[in-house]
Amino acid sequence: MSKLPNDFLWGGALAANQFEGGYDQGGKGLSVIDVMTAGAHGKAREITQDVEPDKYYPNHVGIDFYNRYKEDVKMFSDMGLKCLRTSIAWTRIFPKGDEVEPNEEGLQFYDDLFDELLKYKIQPVITLSHFEMPLHLAREYGGFRNRKVADFFAHFAETVFNRYKDKVKYWMTFNEINNQMDINNPIFLWTNSGVSLKEDDNKEEVLYQVAHNELIASAKAVKIGKEINPEFEIGAMISHVPIYPYSCNPNDIMEAEVASRMRFFFPDVHARGYYPGYATKMFEREGFDIGWQEGDDEILRDGKVDYIGFSYYMSTVVKHDNEASVEDNIVNGGLPNSVDNPYIKKSDWGWAIDPVGLRYILNALYNRYQIPLFIVENGFGAVDEFDENGFGAVDEFDENGQIHDDYRVDYLREHIKAAIDAVDKDGVDLMGYTPWGIIDIVSFTTGEMKKRYGLIHVDRDNEGNGSLERTKKDSFDWYRNVIESNGEEL
Ligand code: BG6
Repeated sequence: MSKLPNDFLWGGALAANQFEGGYDQGGKGLSVIDVMTAGAHGKAREITQDVEPDKYYPNHVGIDFYNRYKEDVKMFSDMGLKCLRTSIAWTRIFPKGDEVEPNEEGLQFYDDLFDELLKYKIQPVITLSHFEMPLHLAREYGGFRNRKVADFFAHFAETVFNRYKDKVKYWMTFNEINNQMDINNPIFLWTNSGVSLKEDDNKEEVLYQVAHNELIASAKAVKIGKEINPEFEIGAMISHVPIYPYSCNPNDIMEAEVASRMRFFFPDVHARGYYPGYATKMFEREGFDIGWQEGDDEILRDGKVDYIGFSYYMSTVVKHDNEASVEDNIVNGGLPNSVDNPYIKKSDWGWAIDPVGLRYILNALYNRYQIPLFIVENGFGAVDEFDENGFGAVDEFDENGQIHDDYRVDYLREHIKAAIDAVDKDGVDLMGYTPWGIIDIVSFTTGEMKKRYGLIHVDRDNEGNGSLERTKKDSFDWYRNVIESNGEEL
């Protein structure tokens, strides 16, 4: 008998901006991601003022899902998916973001997509904002630095909740809302919130003002959604990179505890409906004005989420007396005291592969909030050659046109086992599992195509060449069997 509930949501995860393409089709407006060029590992993506004709913007075409969605949904159905996590591009519905009336063509696209999914009994799981928002709101209003943008977001949420109330049950408000707290990486603040910091900003204070406006926007959306359809399940979405202490030295333990507040800050507010003591103390101590308005306590209290969705890719370690450079730490979430974990291998991108960390964090989140959890991202980006430790991977066709991605299967298998342990041995209430990039898409951090997570290969390279043809990898059939056996056959 399966250790997972029968209605476990096996699926795949994607985001509109990374795979839809059609950036100027159907009346869509420009989003903040549409002015981001391609970067590479170690080379940051550039944010341009507008779309510049001589620059390459990989998200403009993505993998052209906008024009090929029927073919792709059919493949997802062949894989046996029970749900598909994707997002609605805000700019398809409100091209500039501050309009009163939505763009009907954009609404129709998602009607058609959701109908297509439901035809195959695939539940849409929808993120309202996944690393994109109208460029106009960023340029003219300063993004989520401006409280008005929270109201524009609430209007967008209300519009799509009303329109899709009978087609979509599972929602999330902001993708990886906590990532923007990494002060050393301006990309996240731009993509999450449409904010560029100015020279004379008190950066930390601005970060918390932006965070507050977004938490208010999320809470408003939850309340509106539940009024429209009480059956909705509306969740938060955070990136969770657990922070381990380097040793049993109490100073390392405390370092990890304090650093972990950066991970728990958002879900603490989302799930409990008020700010945690460590945050209010810090605002007081630092003299931060987060832009609190009368009535905000009710808004937060009335907009608690039903579940916590989270991404899990890696873990990190802190050592209280370590001083590493900012560059060394970017990949570890910008923690000033992070060090390598000697017990764990890394991927080609320096991401520490740690399945046990997934069980650990499922426990930590469940113990803290006692509400259902949903693993909405997890996966293995492959490229390159095997290194001297036998690690690394390359998605390459053999002479028969097959891709044997056993490294991806190994990664997913170990993480699924860890998730099953959390349910079966630890009693965690887990709703589902949607591996990231179920089909190859544009990488968020680098804008490359060669960082491939997919169980379906897409013929497209970093420069935008290729036929866009789709081909199943070995992991495709493996995952279908996992789903069919409800996690019994791994
Ligand atoms: C998460 C994001 O941070 O990680 C996704 O929610 C992103 O949008 C994923 O694609 C993997 O990151 P990358 O840079 O490998 O695409």
